[in-house]
Amino acid sequence: MTTALAIHSGAPVRGPGRPWPAWPTAAPGAGAALDAVLHSANWAITSPYRDRLYERRFAQAFADYTGTAHCVPTDHGSSALVIALESLGLRYGDPVLVPALTWTATATAVFRAGLVPVLVDVDPATGCLDAAAVAAEPEAAAVIAVHWACTMADVPVLNAAATTLGAKVIEDAAQAHGARWRGRAAGSLGWAGCFSMQHSKVLTSGEGGAVVTDDGAAAGLMEELRADSRRYRDEPVRGELPLYETAETMGANYCLSEFAAALLCEQLSILDDQHEVRNANFLALERMLADVPGVRLPRRSPAQDRLSLYEVPLVFDPLPPGRTNAWAAEAMTAELGLRAYPPRVPLSRSPLLAPWRKSTLAPLAERFRALHADRRYPGAEYLAGHAVLLHHSAFLGTEEDMADIAAAAAKVARHPGGDA
Ligand SMILES: Cc1ncc(COP(=O)(O)O)c(C=O)c1O
Repeated sequence: MTTALAIHSGAPVRGPGRPWPAWPTAAPGAGAALDAVLHSANWAITSPYRDRLYERRFAQAFADYTGTAHCVPTDHGSSALVIALESLGLRYGDPVLVPALTWTATATAVFRAGLVPVLVDVDPATGCLDAAAVAAEPEAAAVIAVHWACTMADVPVLNAAATTLGAKVIEDAAQAHGARWRGRAAGSLGWAGCFSMQHSKVLTSGEGGAVVTDDGAAAGLMEELRADSRRYRDEPVRGELPLYETAETMGANYCLSEFAAALLCEQLSILDDQHEVRNANFLALERMLADVPGVRLPRRSPAQDRLSLYEVPLVFDPLPPGRTNAWAAEAMTAELGLRAYPPRVPLSRSPLLAPWRKSTLAPLAERFRALHADRRYPGAEYLAGHAVLLHHSAFLGTEEDMADIAAAAAKVARHPGGDA
């Protein structure tokens, strides 16, 4: 006997009146910090200098947080990727490896930097690039390793594979602030690490981004690349711009505003406490799902010694007969009163990645098309077709919430399919 699913008018696992945690959550000092900027004469790093910029304070705090020597804040995670790629000094049209399972910005940033993304498959157990995929691409001029959803790519082995090709690894850690691999922070393991602070991310200012690196020369170039060819003065003078025209390269304006920087300074102060709550709940869910046939979490490497949950993928395999993971996501949403959703399609068939729609990209688009004529992505397709994602905010509550998620997953997984 099966219990009727909530999408078939059965009783939901979680009734009304039990809301899920809200997102975002403002840190205790956020209001005061925003107010301080509002009543200062410094709303941007391009304002005449008065006091130490929040942007400089955030850069220091985030470099410390990731254990890196330099942090260059940006207006978006996409811009962080663009300036990291530009600072590599590659030639127009050089190929850059990008996993097929990621947000479109990882690949569009490559085009924006005048390069060509080469989409490669991911390991279906983790959703991340593996070393074999890199070794199979001897032409690669750079590799972008995305830490997907809540798992980390094995960057040390990717570094080794990329080094034999003479390429550098850029970590796209937009979904992994604070994750650690053998004690080292996501973003600090490759040559550079790029972060997004967009609204849905675990560290957010609505929009924002940053690159971290230990490479001082590259960090200087990145400063220019994101501030119209200008760098910070070592000793800013009151009343004058804190930037001066160094122009070693030609930049654009991707600067983070002082409001966003002030907010990030405060939000960073609560990030680790939030990680603790989310990660304890994740481990509880992992224990609960161990007894549920047909549902599992992605493989977690023991080397990843701290999780940073962005989206938690519940992998339904097998799916109920005749059902898709989009159906499972709808069924989970109805059981929980919480948005559950399938991953986006692999970039190889994403309507968002269409360089041929931009006339100025024509030569790169042509190269992109030619490079992708015969490629297949079984690993990315597997996850895109079997996973159901939950946003990290659902893990900011209690173990009771995890019991609801496990019960809903079990109910959906054991559905016999058909019209039942
Ligand atoms: C993996 C990944 N890379 C890059 C980005 C781009 O970041 P932003 O939206 O801040 O430009 C995102 C944002 O969703 C992302 O998830």
